[in-house]
This record gives sequence, structure tokens and C-alpha cells, in this order.
Amino acid sequence: MLHSAPPASAARVIRTVQGMPTSDGAGVKLRRVIGTPQLPDLDPFLMLDEFGTDRAEDYIAGFPEHPHRGFETVTYMLDGRMRHRDNHGNEGLLVPGAVQWMTAGRGVVHSEMPEQEEGRMRGFQLWVNLPARLKMSEPGYQEFPPERIPVAHPADGVSVKVIAGSVVDADGSAVTGPIVQPATEPLYFDVGMAPGRTWSLSLPEGHNAFVFVFEGALSVGEGDDARPLATRTLGVLGGGERVILASGDAAARAILVAGRPLREPVAKYGPFVMNTKEELMQAFVDYQEGRF
Ligand code: CO
Repeated sequence: MLHSAPPASAARVIRTVQGMPTSDGAGVKLRRVIGTPQLPDLDPFLMLDEFGTDRAEDYIAGFPEHPHRGFETVTYMLDGRMRHRDNHGNEGLLVPGAVQWMTAGRGVVHSEMPEQEEGRMRGFQLWVNLPARLKMSEPGYQEFPPERIPVAHPADGVSVKVIAGSVVDADGSAVTGPIVQPATEPLYFDVGMAPGRTWSLSLPEGHNAFVFVFEGALSVGEGDDARPLATRTLGVLGGGERVILASGDAAARAILVAGRPLREPVAKYGPFVMNTKEELMQAFVDYQEGRF
């Protein structure tokens, strides 16, 4: 019998999580998917909120002034318009398809308010941790309108908005997203699949990764290991770098997110994410004394 080198092993869904209804800001209704007792974090990801509603009363109160220190907030709008303003004089309008990757660093005080009084508001906010050496760095933004997010077509019936990281297109060229963050080398893909399609891709070795399905359903994995993910289900991936996604009888859409784990102690309270309790207490003092 001949033995050949084993192919890169296929990732499996090692656990699934459903979002938990909650509210944040001044009463915005959302579903928290990472950052719950069920899934407190997935290093380097600290939180994932999905917001999606047609009812203005669910979002109209917005997120008035609040601080952040020690990590990054990533807002990806699918529908609706949100205006942000911060205490460093930055301001911008997020429209459908826009991405804001905010590095809070040593401190940002900002508001995120809906710029509409009716209609659908839908999107995600992901919190990505920063390593100790960057927690007190200068705040900064990477913000892109939808036309700056490239779309790859890596397989028939598969289109991928590449926010961060690279996708190998059908012709072999790399389609690279505009977000740059060497600290965690994140991948953030918005994957749309027509019915009955399959896409296989490789993740960087050692990254933590998840798939969150937000329209239709997908199966993730190979052969007997493939596991279905229904709408609004997050699958944590493990056991391999090769990810195989397949749609069923209906079209499906999901975000696929991956990042290099930091493996550092996390001291977290509300909008502050540091390494030690002392740094957390210092964050409160600095915020109260207006040093953000
Ligand atoms: Co915020």
C-alpha cells in the first residue's frame, strides 16, 4: 500500500453558540454572540454583537458618549446609517457596507448614533483585543466606504467581501482587504453563497476562527465531520486550517472571522480591556479625570 502525505486537515465546528438577546448603549436591542457566559471570549475576540431590526424603537436611542481603552472595536454595517463622533475631533458616517476598525488604544470617548428615524438597521460590532505593548498606543481609525471593500469570487456562486485578510480568487490572484493589523493578523470575510455551492479555503496556522451565519444555513467541515449551522448560529472552528463551507437548497450569508490569539491575561470591565486589575483601575481614574 502506498502512503502519500496527508492533506492539510479540515477544520471542524467544535462548538456552536446562539446569540443572547440583550441591550446596550441607551437601550439598543441586540444579540450578543461572543462575550456571554456561554462564550466569554475567543482570543483575540472579546465580543461580537449582532444588531438587526426594522423597528426604530429598537435602535433609535443609539450609543451616546462612552469610553473605550485597550482594544479595538470593529463596526460592519449591513443596513442603516450610523454617525460616530469622538473626543479627538473625529467624525464619520457609516453607510450600508461600510467598515470602521477603531483602535481605541489609550482612550477614546465616542458616540455612535443612528442617522435615521425609520427603516432597517443591521450589522455587527466585533471587539478585538490588543497586545499589552499596544494597549496605550495612540487611538486611530481605519474606516472604509463600501466601494473600498474588494469582492472576490473564489468559486462559482461564491462572492466574498474581503474586509481584512486575503482570499485567493478563482484566477489564482489574491484579493486583499483594506484593514491592516499586524498584532492579530485578522481575517474578516462577508461570504455570500448561492444554493448548492462549496468553497474551500485555508486559514493561517494557529488562528482562532469562527463562522456566524446571518442568512440561510451553511454546513462547515468535510464529509462525515460536516456540521450544519442555522441562521444566527456561530460555529467555533478547530482541528485544522482548511475550511470547507457548503450551502444547501437556499442561498446563505455568513461572516468568517479569524485572528492570531494573544495568549495574554485579560482584565476586563465594561469598555476597558487591560492585562491587570491595576491597569483597569488606572483606566477608570484616567477616564474620570478626563485623560482620554
Ligand atoms: Co463604542
